[in-house]
Amino acid sequence: MARTALLNVMVNAALKAGRGLSRDFGEVENLQVSLKGPGDFVSAADRRAEEVLIAELARARPGYGVLAEESGTTEGTDSAHRWIIDPLDGTMNFLHGIPIFAISIGLEREGTMVAGVIYNPIMNELYVAERGSGAYLNDRRLRTAKRNKLADCVIATGMPHLHRPGQDSYLEELRRMMRNVAGVRRTGSAATDLAWTAAGRFDGYWQHGLQPWDIAAGVIIAREAGVLVTDAAGGNTMLEGGSIAAGNETIHRHLLGFLAPDS
Ligand code: IPD
Ligand code: CA
Ligand code: CA
Repeated sequence: MARTALLNVMVNAALKAGRGLSRDFGEVENLQVSLKGPGDFVSAADRRAEEVLIAELARARPGYGVLAEESGTTEGTDSAHRWIIDPLDGTMNFLHGIPIFAISIGLEREGTMVAGVIYNPIMNELYVAERGSGAYLNDRRLRTAKRNKLADCVIATGMPHLHRPGQDSYLEELRRMMRNVAGVRRTGSAATDLAWTAAGRFDGYWQHGLQPWDIAAGVIIAREAGVLVTDAAGGNTMLEGGSIAAGNETIHRHLLGFLAPDS
């Protein structure tokens, strides 16, 4: 697959930041046994990865705005374009030495997601998509899972963290889901959940309480693989509202039926 200049810029930034995260992940594995744990070290690794990403992207596309988890909003001189960046999605996994985490870079043009890159440097999985050109994992074209019977389906989800609202309504949703599907999975990385749904590993995915940087890249990658992605009400406010439901047309319809009406 020949990559466009834009995707090359995004991929190179992700690979560079990924090398740093890989090294730091090795160190985290050593720090596991210390009493203090690797908390501060991980925060520093997270910030370093974000700095690398922003520097690389700005070098190639000066003027684009940025929304990044650690440094927030930076207005650009080019008001049409905005990078939406999570330097480390799956922090809790990273902190615990679990190798399911990813760098996530989305590009928005005039308010529409037009390109996305998700990279897990430990699994060596690079997911890319550009609007209208399909989604790829390490150069292999991705397609949504075709399963239509819920009883055959594995559905991914994310749970409200400690002290976050919405736990009771979430548990109702989970109960409805568990009674109907073959299995429910929780990776701890929303970017990974969407990438794996794009790859057909998961038949669907739902979650609430997300931030735009968790899902910006994943939304376009999943859509370009043919996955239907909406908010919990079937609309298009995933980035603003933080809820998401994804799957092929049939599974997506079932998921919306299970989601709490007020979420
Ligand atoms: C988190 C992950 C997780 C989701 C949380 C996010 P972080 O991002 O995406 O899957 O359940 O809501 O905050 O904190 O690891 O970047
Ligand atoms: Ca995140
Ligand atoms: Ca993060």
